Amino acid sequence: MIDRRLLLSGLSAAAVLALARRAGAAPVAADPAIEALIGAMSLEEKAGQLTLMPDLSRPRVDAGVPQPVVRAEFDRIAREIRAGGLTGLFNGVGTEAGRRLQRLAVEESRHRIPLLFAGDIIHGLRTVFPLPLAEAASFEPELAQRTARAAAEEATAVGLHWTFAPMVDVARDQRWGRVVEGAGEDPWLCALFAAARVRGFQGPSLAAPDSLLACPKHFVGYGAVTGGMEYASVDLSDQALRDIHLPPFRAAIDAGALTIMSAFNDINGVPSTANRRLLTDLLRAEMGYRGVVTSDYTADAELVAHGYAADEREAAKLAFLAGVDISMASGLFREHLPSLVTDGEVPLAALDASVRRVLQLKKAMGLFDDPYRSLDPERERRSIHLPATHALAREAARRSIVMLKNEGALLPLSKSAQRIALIGPAGRAHALGPHSLYGEPQKGVTLEQGLRVSVADPGTLMVVRGSDFEAPLEGGIEAALASARLADVVVLALGESGEMTGESQSRTEVVIPAPQMALAEAVSALGKPTVLALNTGRALALHGAALKADAILVTWLLGSEAGHAIADVLFGEVSPSGRLPVSFPIESGQEPYFYDHRPTGRPQEPGAPREYKGRYRDTPNEARFPFGHGLTYSTVAYGRLTLSTTTLAWNGTLTAHARITNTGARAVEEVAQLYIHQRAATVTRPVRELKGFRKIALAPGETKDVAFEITRKDLGFIGLDLTPVAEPGTFDLWIAPNAAEGLSATFELLDAPKRA
Ligand code: BGC
Repeated sequence: MIDRRLLLSGLSAAAVLALARRAGAAPVAADPAIEALIGAMSLEEKAGQLTLMPDLSRPRVDAGVPQPVVRAEFDRIAREIRAGGLTGLFNGVGTEAGRRLQRLAVEESRHRIPLLFAGDIIHGLRTVFPLPLAEAASFEPELAQRTARAAAEEATAVGLHWTFAPMVDVARDQRWGRVVEGAGEDPWLCALFAAARVRGFQGPSLAAPDSLLACPKHFVGYGAVTGGMEYASVDLSDQALRDIHLPPFRAAIDAGALTIMSAFNDINGVPSTANRRLLTDLLRAEMGYRGVVTSDYTADAELVAHGYAADEREAAKLAFLAGVDISMASGLFREHLPSLVTDGEVPLAALDASVRRVLQLKKAMGLFDDPYRSLDPERERRSIHLPATHALAREAARRSIVMLKNEGALLPLSKSAQRIALIGPAGRAHALGPHSLYGEPQKGVTLEQGLRVSVADPGTLMVVRGSDFEAPLEGGIEAALASARLADVVVLALGESGEMTGESQSRTEVVIPAPQMALAEAVSALGKPTVLALNTGRALALHGAALKADAILVTWLLGSEAGHAIADVLFGEVSPSGRLPVSFPIESGQEPYFYDHRPTGRPQEPGAPREYKGRYRDTPNEARFPFGHGLTYSTVAYGRLTLSTTTLAWNGTLTAHARITNTGARAVEEVAQLYIHQRAATVTRPVRELKGFRKIALAPGETKDVAFEITRKDLGFIGLDLTPVAEPGTFDLWIAPNAAEGLSATFELLDAPKRA
């Protein structure tokens, strides 16, 4: 029986089968040992190789205390392993138990196929690095590569082979909680970070015991959920899909990613996990991807709730035929694929092709040669919380902090000349953030701890919670006021807790919650110099006392070394050097808000708002703090923008230069950004698009020339026929400190030379 949905796509039954065969028949070169194995496996064993289940026998470490192996779960899993019913397990760590499980697979199952151990290592294992969004603010993909490498070293030391990361979804709506897990709103920046993280996790050789297989996710368009609501549906044009959401996946694949996770959401009515057009035609046939596709957690079973599959058997069939190789957590492939094959509903060749891909992956990971790779208890004992890993976490956290304002040069603070009141729920909270399943809060440094070890006299530091993150605290405001009155400077540590951001944490209002604002308003009324340290996993709309603070540092959730890193910046050990990877809106109602939007036919002009223009009645169109914005402890001037030519030949190169000068008295790092805009094209182009940046160190008074080379490749886009094009015409170019300012020039891209 051929599925009605595939038939509805306009293909005949024969064509559908041919397609399934084609996708299944030729993806990878045959390996004799693997072919022999496939030849000897039963249908049930094949379906087992496509089944990944949560490891409930090794519950998570809570508060740093490893819990004992859950015996009943262990016995159940052991039976499944012996029967060849599992390809691997996820979210269980620990080498001793890992070895026991692996031993069952390679000694007691019929074909002795090793297990893959996976886990959500998003921004570190025990040593937690800044949130991925925070790290993107460094504008240093190379830094993300280093932290991913360090995370891989800890994760493989506790027995993992595979991480479900990086998340490479482009997130243009701050209401969506998973903004925190990616690299922000810009597709080009997201692509750079995607590739860097894949390289970092995997390292130079997949077979090395410290190589952690990457899994870019979630394919695709998850960041475009309607209304920013988690798991909601997505309506996306093919152009937006290709121009905005695919580039990070492309970059991750080019960087060597061999697994990809399908998304929960539907696109235009077809769930991604059953979307053959996406998973096979686009991903494999068009993008040339040769690796494994895993579903997200029970995403195949959810096809029923989506209203796409009538029952779980059909769900398994639709997901599998669409191009999912591995079913995560539902067990549906194991349950239904064997009978789907015997009943002729799923071609055996397609099943074999998926098994082949999985076995080749295990081979590439070196698991057939050494099933106990990454399962060395001795290495586990000596690899966690190394000083060098914590030093890197501190460096990454420092470099992720973004200073939004600094009126009257309040920052940096002196370590000795004042009494500081640290007020707010983020002062004493750990900053590991969401997606740090294995992090150890007690090994992390809170802001209070960071300040305490930095100030000359710890007696000058007063700490008051004042409010919880989402609820008032009895007497909290009074206690805060009492401390603030005695203080010379107030540091307000406010924003989102780790629980308020991440998966399933969508918000309609991206603001500091009301109880904290009440605290901030009361403290602000005292008129003390105030610094806002903003804990957050997304861009927030800042109002009132929060916005009025003399200085604002976006401190995100910076991981294990958060407190030290924030203190380093507050006291001027380093100048802030981060830049916003997401626009901070004026109001939540502007969301989805992203700087690279298309122009309207009725643009709002500078000056007084006018009727019948693209605008809101009650809020300006601008961002409060634009994409790319971030201040330093010095002042930086942009000057003398020059172009090597104003007419770029079709195959030519244009160089844009600007002179960047540190006009202040402190050494800083500036992120000079290159933006372009094509004035007229067959598909209208965003008002600005980031095409390059340079992070440069500038000593006081120093001037550096930054140069960007531009070729036709940088000016292309996805055309109406859905293929990349570049079109001759006039372009604006900016070299700028952020997406709303900068020096500008124009140039022409000339037409291709005509053939004689
Ligand atoms: C998330 C994935 C994650 C998986 C496994 C899902 O809920 O969407 O990103 O990798 O769980 O933990």
